[in-house]
Amino acid sequence: MSYKKDFPIFKNNRKMVYLDSAATSQKPQVVIDAVNDFFSKYNSNVHRGIYTLSEKAEELYEGTRKKVAGLINAGGASEIIFTGNATEAINLAAFGYFKKFLKKDDIVVLSEMEHHSNVVPWLMLKKSLGIKIYYLPVNEDYRLDHLRLMEQKINFSKVKLISLTHASNVLGTVNPLEEIIPSLKKECTNAKILIDAAQSIPHIPVNVKKMNCDFLAFSSHKMFGPSGVGVLYARQELLEMTDPLFYGGHMIANVDKEKARFLPAPAKFEAGTGKLEGVAGLGAAIDYLNTRDIKVIQKYEHGLTKYTLSRLPKIKNVQLYGSRNFLNRLPVFSFNIGAIHPHDVSEILNRHGVCVRAGHHCAQVLMDACQTAGTVRASLSIYNTKDDVDKLITSIEDVKNVFRLTD
Ligand code: ALA
Repeated sequence: MSYKKDFPIFKNNRKMVYLDSAATSQKPQVVIDAVNDFFSKYNSNVHRGIYTLSEKAEELYEGTRKKVAGLINAGGASEIIFTGNATEAINLAAFGYFKKFLKKDDIVVLSEMEHHSNVVPWLMLKKSLGIKIYYLPVNEDYRLDHLRLMEQKINFSKVKLISLTHASNVLGTVNPLEEIIPSLKKECTNAKILIDAAQSIPHIPVNVKKMNCDFLAFSSHKMFGPSGVGVLYARQELLEMTDPLFYGGHMIANVDKEKARFLPAPAKFEAGTGKLEGVAGLGAAIDYLNTRDIKVIQKYEHGLTKYTLSRLPKIKNVQLYGSRNFLNRLPVFSFNIGAIHPHDVSEILNRHGVCVRAGHHCAQVLMDACQTAGTVRASLSIYNTKDDVDKLITSIEDVKNVFRLTD
């Protein structure tokens, strides 16, 4: 199965080895076409026009909402809110819902492997409301040790939120949420569950019913869709209790000089004109994922992960931050080479056409837990091949030569 041919960027950059898909994925031709088609065939505003073109644009927009609901097995399209990105989606949950209901000394459980987008909003609420935050630790195999929470001398009835990533953007670890959530909920009976699915959604099935979550966030640009579009899923009854973050046009049932009444979700949360072409592209990305079948994708990527793990950690002086077991793991590999600064590694890899991310990856709590300031991260996707992994390996050998790191 070759996915690479679906992505025109590789025809235009034949020598490039793109290993930065955890930052943003490349886009298949069908997504590029959908954005182009929006502008060339349907461009008009939605929810406002009483004419055929606008109705078609609206069908595309609302059709994507239904596709998103289907993809994650939500109760219906009205549980899907379009935001700007996953960060904005988590902020909507934090400041639109949790800010209203959390009180001083309530506990929010996060993990050490969270992206800043699932740390900083809660730190802000800690500052303004006096809530407490507990971080589930990462064990020696770079997996979550969720049972450590049970050993804490805390009042479990005060745990009001457990907010976890489905997959780490640094370690590649996939958290077995179907096991972790019920186990934590046994004690933390008052806790709502929020899941950050930004990294997992292009790689593995995401099912809000199976995860038993209340909120779920992700963004389009990491799942082959355009940037500028994110999604917040929440159960209907929670959305009814959530306040919008933005106010203005489209969200309104009625306004007079003194007061405003809002439409129900999802409109209540989508003030102003949305990212129309981006949503059209997201619809095409979901069609693409469905045609390719996420389970087939998962199998292909397991092969890539297994192959990379058979080579990368075996290189002398390479320290891998992530499990060497390919199961419950994404093809995301963070590493350092001796004491060479990750930025230097990235720069030399770039000379070979290899694109990686270097730094703290917006996960400084995790960097502290791993006792490093930063890493090099190679993150793969369906369009990568074993040849790409080979190129990474030979380029790493060159980095070692440049820095005279002899075996
Ligand atoms: N969250 C993205 C990453 O991990 C940007 O690189």
